Amino acid sequence: MRSSNLIMPTVHFTLNGVATEASYESGMRLLEVLRESCGIVSAKDGCSPEGACGCCLVNIDGRPALSCLRKPEQMEGHDIVTLEGLPEETRRVIGDAFVLEGGVQCGFCIPGIVVRAASLIERGKSGDRDAIAKALDGHLCRCTGYGRIIDAIQTAGEATANGGQLPDVPRRHHFFGEDIGLSRDPAFANGGGSPHGIGRSAPRHGGLEQSLGEKPFVADMAAPEMLHGAMVPTAHPRARVLKIHTAAARAMPGVVRVLTAADVPGPRGTGINSPDQPVFVAEGEVTCCVADFVAMVVADTPFLARQAAASVQVDYEVLEPVTDAVEALKPGAIQVHSADTYFPTPNLLEPVTAFTRGDVDAALDAAAHVVETTFVTSAVEPAFLEPEACLVVPRREGVRQRVRVHAESQGSVYDQQQIARVLDIEPNDVEIVLAASGGAFGAKEELSIQAQTALAAQLLGRPVKTVLTREQSTQHHVKRHPMTVALTVGADAEGHLLSLRSRIVADAGGYHTTSAKCALRAACHSCGPYRVPNVDVESKAVYTNNPNSGAMRGFGSNQAQFAMEGVMDILAQKVGVDGWDIRMRNVLDPGDEFATGQIMRGSVRGMRASLEAVKDIYKSARYKGIGCGIKSTGLGNGTTEGGYITIRVVEGPRLEIRNGYTEMGQGIFTATLQTVCQETDLPAGIMQVTWDKDLGNKCGETWASRGTTLSCAAAKIAAEKLAADLKDQPLDQLVGREYVGEYVLNVTTRPGTPEWVKNKDTHLTFSYSTQVVILDDQGLVTRVVAAHDVGRALNPRLCAEQMEGGVHMGLGYALSENFTSTGGVPDSLALRELGIVAAKHMPKVDVILIEIPDEVGGYGAKGVGEIGCVSTAGAVAGALHSFDGIRRLTLPMDDAPAARPSLPKSRRPSIAVPADARVVPA
Ligand code: FES
Repeated sequence: MRSSNLIMPTVHFTLNGVATEASYESGMRLLEVLRESCGIVSAKDGCSPEGACGCCLVNIDGRPALSCLRKPEQMEGHDIVTLEGLPEETRRVIGDAFVLEGGVQCGFCIPGIVVRAASLIERGKSGDRDAIAKALDGHLCRCTGYGRIIDAIQTAGEATANGGQLPDVPRRHHFFGEDIGLSRDPAFANGGGSPHGIGRSAPRHGGLEQSLGEKPFVADMAAPEMLHGAMVPTAHPRARVLKIHTAAARAMPGVVRVLTAADVPGPRGTGINSPDQPVFVAEGEVTCCVADFVAMVVADTPFLARQAAASVQVDYEVLEPVTDAVEALKPGAIQVHSADTYFPTPNLLEPVTAFTRGDVDAALDAAAHVVETTFVTSAVEPAFLEPEACLVVPRREGVRQRVRVHAESQGSVYDQQQIARVLDIEPNDVEIVLAASGGAFGAKEELSIQAQTALAAQLLGRPVKTVLTREQSTQHHVKRHPMTVALTVGADAEGHLLSLRSRIVADAGGYHTTSAKCALRAACHSCGPYRVPNVDVESKAVYTNNPNSGAMRGFGSNQAQFAMEGVMDILAQKVGVDGWDIRMRNVLDPGDEFATGQIMRGSVRGMRASLEAVKDIYKSARYKGIGCGIKSTGLGNGTTEGGYITIRVVEGPRLEIRNGYTEMGQGIFTATLQTVCQETDLPAGIMQVTWDKDLGNKCGETWASRGTTLSCAAAKIAAEKLAADLKDQPLDQLVGREYVGEYVLNVTTRPGTPEWVKNKDTHLTFSYSTQVVILDDQGLVTRVVAAHDVGRALNPRLCAEQMEGGVHMGLGYALSENFTSTGGVPDSLALRELGIVAAKHMPKVDVILIEIPDEVGGYGAKGVGEIGCVSTAGAVAGALHSFDGIRRLTLPMDDAPAARPSLPKSRRPSIAVPADARVVPA
């Protein structure tokens, strides 16, 4: 380890069977020593030193232990075994079991869980699902919903007892709407004959490497002569930075440089939609939220950099923060940004979304039933397990200073442009290399530390790597928007919807990020999947000094549809029918208008089919709730969107498949590979899928549930060309050829614009869901049935994985997750206090996949990334009402018996029903 000039203490232990001497700095954790001194990468740092995520689990003297909680000086003479050191047969069996059962998505949490699994199997405790779930108490997974992780551990245990032989089929079954007479298209039910073709549950591409911790994340990467960065966040959400004292930090051992705003050569503002967030807040400027950074320390080691960062002192003039989005709009409210900075109307982000159809007032006057209610939703932390990390390698070419940026962003285009701007160099001099991402859920769209790290590398002429601590990560990145949704909805005597007025206010936090667009998406989804002939919608995003809000799985549709599903339940009660009947009367059919006026095509039949699929389950349950959901696929709203794929035939012969969208655990590379298998009949074993920067520049960000739909449409085009050549020549004679597939659409308009008046198609397409939540006699959630129209199940297991993970996130949203702040300061940054549903509290989740192919895309696949959690909260609210008769209008519903919030009661806000929440009698 490179370090200070001081003589460092050393510790001696056995590591994976090898006698090891490791040096360390006083105050370091064993995890840091293993990763920085011993070359171990399977033990991941997800929350050090909190000990909540389980990603750093190793065996110490034969017992599982969190290495982030152990001090190196305690390890003298001990025996440490990491995942790398487990017996090869154990690694193979458990790793293969995770792939078979679909227990791995982004893969960041899995190496630690594999260590746990090996211990459970060795101790004969892998046969009891409840015991496994309890043992997973020390682990967090944000992707899977845990069910398949438990499956994998059980299967691995059985295989170990069976001489290492894994079964041919996984234990979990998902359904295809057989109960309602749906059957799969035979052309796609068997992968076109290919074991890896479309419609087959092919193994996740690279799944074994992910499970064994061999897939490198950015934090696992290194470069010669690499330095390390550590960030200094603001201490106050709204304060004038008077003086930044860096002398003490600069004098500390190992410190190479301290950077502040004065070091930035270009404009400091970053942000995908508005460059309003500075990479560093300068002396004399005012912070806007706790996401702000004031300085960065670069040192020889990450430990020294963090220690020095903690010694940077800042003098602040603390100012009164703006914390209420509704109050922030009132005349005389404190302005978060100066009014002349970017927007003409202070605190109100532009553009505001507003559109109308028909005559809402006349329809309300004629309505037999009117529901007028306000819903309030909470801020939610995305809690991806991999904290933000970035490695930048500078390169001088003549007079040009270039940088190569390794990051786990959701796309490269905006990163490249923004970093170039900050560094005041040409975009072509910034090369983005996207690495595997340990989860993102939308919250890795904006820059985090890439520009600052690139600046450090540029100034110092050496590679620099920065990794945020869990607390810094949580403090910095965006949350799901808290929204207030006021609805006035009219219906006829039978409950057919006639009109809807929606007024939405979203708390954007300190910076714009994607807030105006998220408010737009909430507006578009404000009617849910229901036919409403008269619509009047206005949706605003508002600056406050609360933690930043931005993109998170569902992107505004969750909030809007929690409100609309609540209205549907109230309406059902007024009409005297159940939740299923009221929805069946109103769901969109072909030819109906979406909220924005878009005419729904034939593929909307998936909405009604998902309702049909859960009818018997819902009707026969005692305490139950039902929620319907619709989620746009793609950005729409006037954006040109496409998929771009190249297939290169290389020596072997092998295929190099390049995709411009990135893999974050959603399985996009697997589906792309399956497309090529489907069209060419070539074996998957000769194919490799990777991200490509040139194609990435064309695709843009991997967001809005569009990547797989558009990628596979493009891959189909490229693979068809290859298949045509294969008719005349064998593959080895095609070495050197490249096949290009591009699938580009420019068919949408933004509501409220002149273009929209002529063309009401605001979205490429949609996916649909109905979820039923069932409670037991104690009011606890015992089962969730999730019926989802995915258009085409390109890989049924991957589709089901997305839905199960979505339900897990949706249950947390409904019952326990609440990222609260006081005066703009988060009440807790602890991972364990976010209210994420633990494995032992997850109910049974049954997934029903429905295939009503879409008109868009190569095989008719609809987006699956976000829809999984859209309808859950509404269904939970209905179930709770059926249990105790309380109508809940505020998220999370953590007063319910089913709720197990993690935030201590003293720090939990009380449930407050808004004063204007009322049901107007008919
Ligand atoms: Fe568990 Fe992503 S697979 S956090």
